[in-house]
Amino acid sequence: MIRFDVLTLFPAIFDGFLSESILEDAINSGKLSIHLHNMRNWATDKHASMDDRPFGGGPGMVLKVSCVVPCIEAVQQMTTQKADIIMFSPQGKKYNQKLAEQLATKERLILLCGRYEGFDERVTELVEVEEVSIGDYVLNGGEVAAMVLIESVMRLVPGVLGDCDSSRFDSFSSGNRLLDCGHYTRPREFRGLGVPEVLLNGNHAEIAKWREANSLQRTASKRPDLLEDQN
Ligand SMILES: C[S@@+](CC[C@H](N)C(=O)[O-])C[C@H]1O[C@@H](n2cnc3c(N)ncnc32)[C@H](O)[C@@H]1O
Repeated sequence: MIRFDVLTLFPAIFDGFLSESILEDAINSGKLSIHLHNMRNWATDKHASMDDRPFGGGPGMVLKVSCVVPCIEAVQQMTTQKADIIMFSPQGKKYNQKLAEQLATKERLILLCGRYEGFDERVTELVEVEEVSIGDYVLNGGEVAAMVLIESVMRLVPGVLGDCDSSRFDSFSSGNRLLDCGHYTRPREFRGLGVPEVLLNGNHAEIAKWREANSLQRTASKRPDLLEDQN
């Protein structure tokens, strides 16, 4: 069981995400819980403003340390479970499957979704956070990054996927440092294209050998950097 607390200014962005498919099943069966917190509830002025102009001038607005830190502290205290805190930022550590695997072992994760120019720098001095980026590009906010993290972590929580082998053989997973092999399903032939004969013969040893070779071949052609990383 893993608990996510998501701090955001736009909780409604998560509505469809949380109410569909595997994620909804995982929540209903108690394998994970997701709690959305609107940071605006910790605003202190009558306009409920969470952001202010940057000192020194320039474009954009900055999320106020005086609202964000009390919000994090209040959320932390909602349960006694120890939480790791992730702050989404394009400047953070690059997210990957290895980090997803590490996070899947945690009891509780607090996810901080920035907006505008991001958080006042002093948030990271007052609260121990890990800054995480989902790639070298800039989003409007951390909500999409939070969904990426939640979805990739929850696949690794035991019992969430119907077949526990599904994630073990996925590309990048630590059990399989290669890309996943190619997959085929019915019909056997479509517009003149068949499927590799070996997949139809029911010989599990030969199928496993073909899949391994196919994974290696795909990795060498699509992502040779992954093979270099293993040397
Ligand atoms: C417009 S961005 C701020 C960008 C910031 N001024 C910079 O250049 O580093 C607003 C928020 O979106 C989120 N965000 C944007 N790009 C992201 C990325 N690649 N990975 C994770 N979060 C991102 C962060 O939470 C960030 O605080």
